[in-house]
Amino acid sequence: MFKQYFKYYKSRNPAPDLRSVIDLEKAGCEKSVRKVPLPAESPFPSIWGLKPSTDWQVWEIVDKPGLIIIRNPFTSIGQRFWVVQCLRDYSKKPNKSNIDGLIDLDGWWEKAQCNKETAEKLRWITLGFHHNWDTKIYSDMEKDEFPCDLKGMIEHVSKVFGYDTFQAEAAIINYYHMNSTLSGHTDHSEINLEAPLFSVSLGQSAIFLLGGHTIDEKPVAVLLRSGDIVIMSKESRLSYHAVPRILKADSEPWNSNTETIASPARDIQWDLFEEYLKSSRININVRQVLQPQQSCLSDVIYFTYFVIPNWIVM
Ligand code: OGA
Ligand code: MN
Repeated sequence: MFKQYFKYYKSRNPAPDLRSVIDLEKAGCEKSVRKVPLPAESPFPSIWGLKPSTDWQVWEIVDKPGLIIIRNPFTSIGQRFWVVQCLRDYSKKPNKSNIDGLIDLDGWWEKAQCNKETAEKLRWITLGFHHNWDTKIYSDMEKDEFPCDLKGMIEHVSKVFGYDTFQAEAAIINYYHMNSTLSGHTDHSEINLEAPLFSVSLGQSAIFLLGGHTIDEKPVAVLLRSGDIVIMSKESRLSYHAVPRILKADSEPWNSNTETIASPARDIQWDLFEEYLKSSRININVRQVLQPQQSCLSDVIYFTYFVIPNWIVM
């Protein structure tokens, strides 16, 4: 079931009918989503490029409890800031990437600015606990410092939703181009599978598919635009999901209100980032790896021996 939907939305010829894709900006989506109220009495200030939380519009997909979408809570300058971080700063050693051994990661962005082929070679980088694509196992030996700005932004978002102990410990930054896809998978490598997963979209739009805990469940298709934050929580945390298609953005939220962009931000050569963004989507996918009391993965031995399983108590 999941695979059929993936193929359907990926297909170029024939192109898919997009009418059943949930689009939060379209009238008629009300039957598929429910508005999530945020606590109004404790507005969070405008930080990390985000608008104050009282201005956020938050939706839950009715058929997929726990799948939350915050509709672009970023300011224009906020979106630009995170694009620059993903292209210029996080694409540096010691972060790991798919181009390790092919292109020097430290020089990638400089080369990418004048060579589209080089630009399109970078498909992912990992931050913090580095995701191991082969073993799918995190390791204390494969870990670098998690960038404190990304940690600050994501933990700010998590607190708005009452996840006060959420720790941003691992991230994958995915770089998509107009023909890229991400096939169906679940994210289950983390020790802590109760903590939600936060996923930020920037640049071009995407069709995001979210199914159930097996590939036999019918997925929903949601249109994600630049700035949208997906939270995969509760029942949806371990659900199959995929990105079968990148779509041309119908708006450029990174370009609204640019007159208010402060002068230090004008100093960066935004036009180079803008050029990259014209045919790319960036996804920042952030996870907590450890249990709240754990300080490293090897602490897991302690848990295995000392936590009394429910069935013994019963
Ligand atoms: C991932 C992922 C989704 C996206 O990186 O694990 O599911 O929206 N990304 O790109
Ligand atoms: Mn995923």
